[in-house]
Amino acid sequence: MALHLLLLLLTTFLSAATADDGPFIGVNIGTDLSDMPHPTQVVALLKAQQIRHVRLYDADQAMLIALAKSGIEVVVSVPNEELLAIGQSNSTAANWVSRNVVAHYPATNITVICVGSEVLTTLPNAAKILVNAIKYIHSALVATNLDRQIKVTTPLPSNIILDSFPPSQAFFNRSMNSILVPLLDFLQSTDSFLALNVYPYYDYMKSNGVIPLEYALFKPLPPNKEAVDSNTLLHYSNVFDAVVDAAYFAMSFLNYTNIPVVVTESGWPSRGDSNEPDATVDNANTYNSNLIKHVLNKTGTPKHPGIAVSTYIYELYNEDNKPGLVSEKNWGLFDANGEPIYILHLTGSGAVLANDTTNQTFCIAKDGADPKMVQAALDWACGPGKVDCSDLLQGQPCYEPDNVLAHATYAFHAYYTKMGKSPEACDFNGVATVSTTDPSHGSCIFPGSHGKNGTLSNITAPSMNSTSSDSSASDFHGCELMRIRSILMVIGFLVWGLVL
Ligand SMILES: *[C@@H]1O[C@H](CO)[C@@H](O)[C@H](O)[C@H]1NC(C)=O
Ligand SMILES: *[C@@H]1O[C@H](CO)[C@@H](O)[C@H](O)[C@H]1NC(C)=O
Ligand SMILES: *[C@@H]1O[C@H](CO)[C@@H](O)[C@H](O)[C@H]1NC(C)=O
Ligand SMILES: *[C@@H]1O[C@H](CO)[C@@H](O)[C@H](O)[C@H]1NC(C)=O
Ligand SMILES: *[C@@H]1O[C@H](CO)[C@@H](O)[C@H](O)[C@H]1NC(C)=O
Ligand SMILES: *[C@@H]1O[C@H](CO)[C@@H](O)[C@H](O)[C@H]1NC(C)=O
Ligand SMILES: *[C@@H]1O[C@H](CO)[C@@H](O)[C@H](O)[C@H]1NC(C)=O
Ligand SMILES: *[C@@H]1O[C@H](CO)[C@@H](O)[C@H](O)[C@H]1NC(C)=O
Ligand SMILES: *[C@@H]1O[C@H](CO)[C@@H](O)[C@H](O)[C@H]1NC(C)=O
Ligand SMILES: *[C@@H]1O[C@H](CO)[C@@H](O)[C@H](O)[C@H]1NC(C)=O
Repeated sequence: MALHLLLLLLTTFLSAATADDGPFIGVNIGTDLSDMPHPTQVVALLKAQQIRHVRLYDADQAMLIALAKSGIEVVVSVPNEELLAIGQSNSTAANWVSRNVVAHYPATNITVICVGSEVLTTLPNAAKILVNAIKYIHSALVATNLDRQIKVTTPLPSNIILDSFPPSQAFFNRSMNSILVPLLDFLQSTDSFLALNVYPYYDYMKSNGVIPLEYALFKPLPPNKEAVDSNTLLHYSNVFDAVVDAAYFAMSFLNYTNIPVVVTESGWPSRGDSNEPDATVDNANTYNSNLIKHVLNKTGTPKHPGIAVSTYIYELYNEDNKPGLVSEKNWGLFDANGEPIYILHLTGSGAVLANDTTNQTFCIAKDGADPKMVQAALDWACGPGKVDCSDLLQGQPCYEPDNVLAHATYAFHAYYTKMGKSPEACDFNGVATVSTTDPSHGSCIFPGSHGKNGTLSNITAPSMNSTSSDSSASDFHGCELMRIRSILMVIGFLVWGLVL
C-alpha cells in the first residue's frame, strides 16, 4: 500500500518532470565576442557537436532563422532591459511573443521562454513586475494556442537559497517570498519548471577552502569523505546535487513539492586572474565532463534519485568582450573559430559534445602540496607501492626535471595505472589528484599517454619486482588521518551552511 502510494507519487513527479524522454544537456549561447561567428556558423558548430538544446539570451532574429529546421530545441529570452515594458503592458507582451515566437514557430522549435535573467538579484526594482511579465507572456501564448508547447519560466540564481547545506534546511530568502510564492504558483499551474543557475565554482571560491575542490568538481570520493545531511542522512558527493536538492527543499518549505528543476546555467572557467587559481583548463574540463556524465546518467539527486536534472552548460563560446575578471571571458567550450578550448572526456556518455575517444586521465602530484608529504608518498610508491621507478634515475628519460613534484607525478601515475585507475589509488594522503592533462614531456612518456606524435605508447603496468616491504596501501593511506579528515569535512559543511 505504502509502496504503491510512493510509486504513484514518484510517477506523478516523473511525468511532470520530464514532458518527453529523458534528461538532456544544452548549451547557453552568449554573444559578447569581438568576432561573433555568423548564426549559420553557430548552427554548424551545434550540429557538428550534436548539441540539440540551446538557450539564447535574447530572441535574435538571424539566430532564430538559422536555427529553423535544425532539429535543435531553443530557449528564447526576454532580456532584462525589456522586462519593465512587458511587465507593465499586456499588449507589449503580446507583441513580443508575436514578433519573437509566433513568427518563427514551429520551423524554429522554441520550447521555452525565459522572462528575464536573475532578476531578483540583478534588477531588484523590476522584481515586483516579474510575475506580471511572466503572466502576460503566458497569456499571449494561450491566445495563440502555443501554451502547451512552450513553457514560461525565469532563471533564478542559487544564492537566493539560504542555508543551502545541509540541503534539508535550505529556504528561499524570505524577503523574496512575496514574489516567489506567486511565481511557484504559476510554474505549478502551467506545468513549467524552476530554472536555476548553479555555479559550484563560485560556491567553492566563496567558501574559503571549506568546500573541497573535489566536491565542486564531481570527483569520485570514498564514501567516508562525502558530506552527510544529518536530518535526512542523505550523502552528498558533489556541490551540484546539494544545490539542486536545496532548491527542492526550499520549494517544499513553501509547500511546492512537484515542480521540477532545470539548471539553466552551470559551468567552470578555463582561465582566470592570479587570484583565481582554480580557473584552469583541467578543472573546467573535469567539471563539464563530469557534469555531462552526471546529468545523462539519470542518477538524479540524493533527494530525488532517478529524476534527472537537465542542464544548460555555460557556455558555448568564450566571450572575450565580457568586462570584469579574466574568468568572465573564459567560460566557453569553444573559441570564435569553433575550436574546442579543451576536449571533453565523455566516452560512454552518448553523442552530445562527444569528441573524445581517449579517456586519458593522469594521477599527478598536487601543485603546492607539502614537499615532505610528497617525498614520503614518492618513497612509498617506489618502495612498498611496487612501482618501477627506474625511469626516474639519473640518465633515464624521466629524471629531468629533477624535482620531487615531477618525480612524484611519474610515480603516482604509474601506481594509479597499476591499480586500474581507481580514484582511490590517486590520493596519497591528499597530495595527489586526477588530471586530464598529459604530464609527458620530451622522451618521458607516461603510461597511457598518446604522446605528442599521437601514437599510443605502451600501456603496460610498471613491473612489480620490488618486495622491499610488506606494508600495504591501506597502511600508508593512514586510516586514522582519514577518519579525522572526514569528520572535519562534515563539520566544515555545517560551517559552510552558516557561511553562505
Ligand atoms: C570532433 O572534432 C573534429 C575536429 O577536431 C570535428 O571535425 C568533428 O566534427 C567532431 N565530432 C564530433 C562528433 O563532435
Ligand atoms: C520540438 O521539440 C519538442 C520537444 O522535444 C518535440 O516534441 C517536437 O517534436 C519538436 N518539434 C519539431 C518541429 O521538431
Ligand atoms: C492579457 O491578454 C490576454 C490575451 O492576449 C488576455 O487573455 C488576458 O486576460 C489579458 N490580461 C490582462 C491583465 O489584461
Ligand atoms: C535577502 O534579500 C534581500 C533583498 O530582497 C537582501 O537585501 C538580503 O541581503 C538577502 N539576504 C541574504 C542573507 O542574502
Ligand atoms: C504548508 O502547509 C502546511 C500544512 O497544510 C501549513 O501548516 C503551512 O502553513 C504551509 N506553509 C506555507 C508556507 O504555506
Ligand atoms: C551512473 O552512475 C552510477 C552511480 O554513480 C554508476 O554506478 C553507473 O555506472 C553510471 N552509469 C553510467 C552509464 O555511467
Ligand atoms: C573509457 O572508459 C570507460 C569507462 O571508464 C571504459 O569502459 C572504456 O573502455 C574506456 N575507453 C578507452 C578507449 O579506454
Ligand atoms: C614520437 O616520435 C619520436 C621521434 O619523432 C619517437 O622517438 C617516439 O618514440 C615517438 N613516441 C611515441 C609514443 O611513439
Ligand atoms: C610494450 O611492452 C611490452 C612488455 O613490456 C614489450 O614487450 C613491448 O616491446 C613494448 N612495446 C613498445 C612499443 O614499447
Ligand atoms: C626491478 O628489477 C630490476 C632488475 O631485476 C632492477 O634493476 C630494478 O632496480 C628493480 N626496480 C625496483 C624499483 O626495485
